[in-house]
Amino acid sequence: MQGKIVKLLYNAQDYISGQQMSESLGVSRQAVNKAVKSLKDKGFKIKSVTRKGYKLEKFPKYLCEEAIKCYLNTKLIGRNLKVLDTVDSTNDYLKKLADDGAEAGTVVLAREQSSGKGRLGREWISPKDNSIALSLLLRPELTPNEISSITPLSGLAMCRAINDFCMLDSRIKWPNDIIVGKKKLVGILTEMAAEFDMVDYTVTGIGINVGQTVFPEEISHKATSILLETGRHIDQNKFIATVLNYLEQELIINHYSLGGQAVADYQKLCATIGRQVTFTRGKRNISGMAVSVNNSGELDVMLSNGTISTVNSGEVTVQGIY
Ligand code: BTN
Repeated sequence: MQGKIVKLLYNAQDYISGQQMSESLGVSRQAVNKAVKSLKDKGFKIKSVTRKGYKLEKFPKYLCEEAIKCYLNTKLIGRNLKVLDTVDSTNDYLKKLADDGAEAGTVVLAREQSSGKGRLGREWISPKDNSIALSLLLRPELTPNEISSITPLSGLAMCRAINDFCMLDSRIKWPNDIIVGKKKLVGILTEMAAEFDMVDYTVTGIGINVGQTVFPEEISHKATSILLETGRHIDQNKFIATVLNYLEQELIINHYSLGGQAVADYQKLCATIGRQVTFTRGKRNISGMAVSVNNSGELDVMLSNGTISTVNSGEVTVQGIY
């Protein structure tokens, strides 16, 4: 109901009467008044003038379901959307919803996480309103081996959304960091629940550094934020709608496949390709030149003896980045 009121106000672009809203939604005037009041409590600035009605003047500054949905063009991703003020980890929260049968495309966002999880058992720090935590539930009809494209396609979508919305030249550091220059802006962590040879669901968690100006000492040399890179505070709701629109484009429209155009696009945006990299195999550190990313999202590295070694996970250090 509140979402529908926001849409009416947003599309009206000027005053719209309470009567008109109650008629087009088939609800009472009191219900409209109540919804408008709740929206004001959430941070929407709505002006009311006798005999003219209501006018939407400002969206809330921070993440808000109704505001994001206003800008959303997707059919699946984010149609079911929840914004939390604070949570331990959006990935853990969404996995519980998934176990209870939540639908594919469900998105959980949090303004703050108290125990955000990074890759390889690391911690992901999400300070309130300065970092966005997003988790996306998918239920692809794929085998566990076939879902390796979900993280790279999500990275591609993130890179496009950032470059489009923030006018930045962000790139992908294989496999799943989004960087600007030599510093990390976004981290991605995909988790999966599967039975034998069929995936039940995947939860892709995306952590975006939005407004930090300082980082903990351990990561300050390699972390950045949209604010630091652009000097501007972004409209977080519009930005997240852009992210979800791109996630739908890259994941759903590409049928989860990193084939043809998607892999070519990924490679164009991948800062790792063409650089010296070091990765670990067992206990050995191996170095070589990153030459390409294949349709499964694996990195092909040419070793000094001319052979190609394919890396599918783990930590890769890239010379000149981190
Ligand atoms: C990494 O670069 O190590 C991956 C970071 C992933 C962080 C995101 S924030 C949203 C989601 N919830 C979590 O607990 N982790 C992911």
